[in-house]
Amino acid sequence: MTRAENLRTFVGRWGLFAGLSLLFACSGTSQDSSESGGSAGGTLTLGAVLPTTGPNAAVGRECADAVQMAAAEWSPRFKEKGWTLEVDVQDDASDPKQAVAAAYAVTGKPSTFGVVAHYNSGCFLPATEVYHSAGVMAVSPATTNVEITQRGYVEIARVPPHDGIQGQVTAEFVRHRLDVVTVAVIHDRTQYGQGLAEVFREHGQNVGLKITSFDGISVGDKDFRALLTKVRAAAPDAIYFGGLYDEAGFLVKQARELGIASLFVSDDAVKGQDFFDVGGAATEGAIISFPGTPLERLDSAKNFLSSFQAKYGRPVQNYAPYAYDTANILLNAAYEAVKEGRPDDLRGAVVSHTRATQHQGTLGVTKFDLNGDTLNRKYSFYRVVDGAFEYMETVLLGAAGQAQEEAGEAAPVQATETPSTTGDAAASPADPSTPPSTAPAGTD
Ligand code: ALA
Repeated sequence: MTRAENLRTFVGRWGLFAGLSLLFACSGTSQDSSESGGSAGGTLTLGAVLPTTGPNAAVGRECADAVQMAAAEWSPRFKEKGWTLEVDVQDDASDPKQAVAAAYAVTGKPSTFGVVAHYNSGCFLPATEVYHSAGVMAVSPATTNVEITQRGYVEIARVPPHDGIQGQVTAEFVRHRLDVVTVAVIHDRTQYGQGLAEVFREHGQNVGLKITSFDGISVGDKDFRALLTKVRAAAPDAIYFGGLYDEAGFLVKQARELGIASLFVSDDAVKGQDFFDVGGAATEGAIISFPGTPLERLDSAKNFLSSFQAKYGRPVQNYAPYAYDTANILLNAAYEAVKEGRPDDLRGAVVSHTRATQHQGTLGVTKFDLNGDTLNRKYSFYRVVDGAFEYMETVLLGAAGQAQEEAGEAAPVQATETPSTTGDAAASPADPSTPPSTAPAGTD
């Protein structure tokens, strides 16, 4: 189905969901006749399908906590309108089959108006079909595989920039900033890791990298010595790994044990304590990419970072702000629908409000393009120094995928920030009509 056909289907679906949504509107226990919009009242459910067990449980729980924080902040405002807000956290355990089952479970609840959807691309990809069929808006805080937003589904969006960007800027960063020429590429055969490695390889060859080998490993394996021995024979300047924390940790540890001195470069799914726990001292000097500007450099993120630390007694490691902004976008969309008196059309209204969002959140402004991809198209690079991720610099691509500076000046890859730079371009959109905040404090 073409995107235009899907958009037409979407418009038609608004009517279809009226009956379904009416069911839960009628099942509500409270009434609100005095508020504008004439909301019927009842329970509204924000789904959160994340890996709260399994190899990515730490990041999944961090994201789930951030969603709960956002919901707690919105809850009194929904209450005023006669609605009880709940969060339904479902565990996908980073397993595609469980992800689809969880997507069915959460969308099967008539009160579900939207879903904070998945950490792993390999989970979100099959589950997109479920959200699309149910007409439920599903926004991912973390999945980056390019294909996710290529299906023409209006119900699908994501907050981090995709791997077409991550793979490209990493290849250029490695070649031009780190002066690497030869690279052995390894991936974990997941849709995420392999997809990213393929973009890195393709774009790397365009910018002068020589790929000495391209190999897949399996998630859950712990011994990569045979592969690394083969890699060692080519003595590459760098090893690029597309994959997740644990395998990255084992790879770098065993590479150093085998005397391989190549720079170890990896991705967003490696930025976390798990990488250090597995890789230990061998992680020193490793370089990774992660979406956006470092949170510590964003005024817009300061409150969230300190509130998260105060509430949960641990610092944010990676994707919590993405989950928090994702939840706020969906909650704001639901609140707008309630205010407009559209409880009988809630899923459709949440889709339309979400796709039109201009959300001023912790990450700066999030706006979606026609595919549901963010226009905030930056990645930052970090180097492991003394067991911590030390910021190096931030790069971005222009709209529509071409390498271009945000302001419009053509450039292969434009470095926008250095460690000494203060402030953040993402918080000041190129569009001079800076959108109003959609955070709870500024929407009513
Ligand atoms: N960005 C990683 C993925 O898409 C976490 O799976």
